[in-house]
Amino acid sequence: MAKFQVPRGTFDILPKDSYKWEYIQNTFRKVAKRYQYQEIVTPIFETADLFERSVGDTSDIVQKEMYKFEDKKGRVFALRPEGTASVVRSYVENNLGVNGGITKLFYIGPMFRYDRPQAGRYRQFYQYGVEAIGSNHPYIDAEVIALQYSFLKELGLKGFVLEVNSVGCPTCSQAYSQALKDYFKPYLGELCPDCVVRFEKNPKRILDCKVPHCKAISKNAPTQLDYLDEDCKAHFEQVKTYLSDMEIPFTVNPHIVRGLDYYTRTAFEFINNNLGAQNAIGGGGRYDKLVEQVGGKDTPGIGFAAGIERLILSLENENLPMGEEPKPLYYWIAIGETARKHSVSIIAKLRQSGNSVDFDIEKESVKSQMKAADKSGAQFALIFGEDEFKKNTVIRKNLVTGDQEELSLQELKG
Ligand code: HAM
Repeated sequence: MAKFQVPRGTFDILPKDSYKWEYIQNTFRKVAKRYQYQEIVTPIFETADLFERSVGDTSDIVQKEMYKFEDKKGRVFALRPEGTASVVRSYVENNLGVNGGITKLFYIGPMFRYDRPQAGRYRQFYQYGVEAIGSNHPYIDAEVIALQYSFLKELGLKGFVLEVNSVGCPTCSQAYSQALKDYFKPYLGELCPDCVVRFEKNPKRILDCKVPHCKAISKNAPTQLDYLDEDCKAHFEQVKTYLSDMEIPFTVNPHIVRGLDYYTRTAFEFINNNLGAQNAIGGGGRYDKLVEQVGGKDTPGIGFAAGIERLILSLENENLPMGEEPKPLYYWIAIGETARKHSVSIIAKLRQSGNSVDFDIEKESVKSQMKAADKSGAQFALIFGEDEFKKNTVIRKNLVTGDQEELSLQELKG
């Protein structure tokens, strides 16, 4: 029979790696809580029009990369390609902003994009991210960036840079769209068919095109920074000042084009240049119109998300630790039939009282059990034979030093 394989662009997280994932997720949870963000978990599928309306129906993510399907009743859903739209949907639906102030949320989970798989790019990938909804103050922009920055620092990562930009508000981005149209008009005959459509619908998306000739044409296109109105300019200046106050190094990259349509004002990316083509290890920005677009009140927001796979690649490149493979405290060695028989209830009680105990019922000889104990990485072997059974004791052998002592079973459990 033909063997089954994981779908292209997806992967299993095997036991030899799963502890790394646990470590990264737990470290992120810890850092997010330091900034007073609370975890939110949303479904991995939503109605497709949520993403079409928010991420944008001219974006590649919606047009080309969305896993869209009909359920048995003909309703159209999509596997989430990103987390922000779902979080904002939940914020509106559950009235999370009812008490005023800023609602600070974080999430961790799989996202799905039908893209061409390559190193660092998958069809199912894991993101961690945050969303801060309810304030347009530039301090919040810097705080959201600071959270990702301090998380990467906490992991010990060095080889990354932060690039920031402002993509303006709807008013100034209208002037910019016109400037782009004026710029691209003479090249209309040379642009790819997708970009010809983008030219009419949303010329900014041309800047995100991956076709080499379109990329070359875009190189000298005007940037949004030259078209910011006074308020957006002042906002961007303040974000930069707060970042400097927080001692977070950054460069301004006016060419940052995010692949999603909901951005206003601040947009940023964390780049690891050692990763090759897929070098973005996180990105985000402000979305001051998104809550309203999704059916809520006019409420500003900002957030970021980052891919765990690319983060693991980055940490591996720098030989950084990612937690430790879990090892048992005890390896139980039972010698002889009677001892084996009584081992079952003793091991159960030891585990019940919180100890991690490894035991292999299939191994009978002392030699094979000792070998397995060494291999398991346990701190101690617990040796239990006929004599120990009679005395209600066990021999505890330190597998590193070789020291051993006899303890009562009572002492061991305590
Ligand atoms: P994004 O830039 O599309 O933004 O994705 C964020 C991060 O997810 C990327 O920087 C990258 O690390 C990772 N990523 C994206 N696609 C893939 C893929 N195919 N394979 C592996 N990793 C990938 C967003 O998703 C926005 N929701 C971020 C945001 C939150 N903006 C505001 N709030």
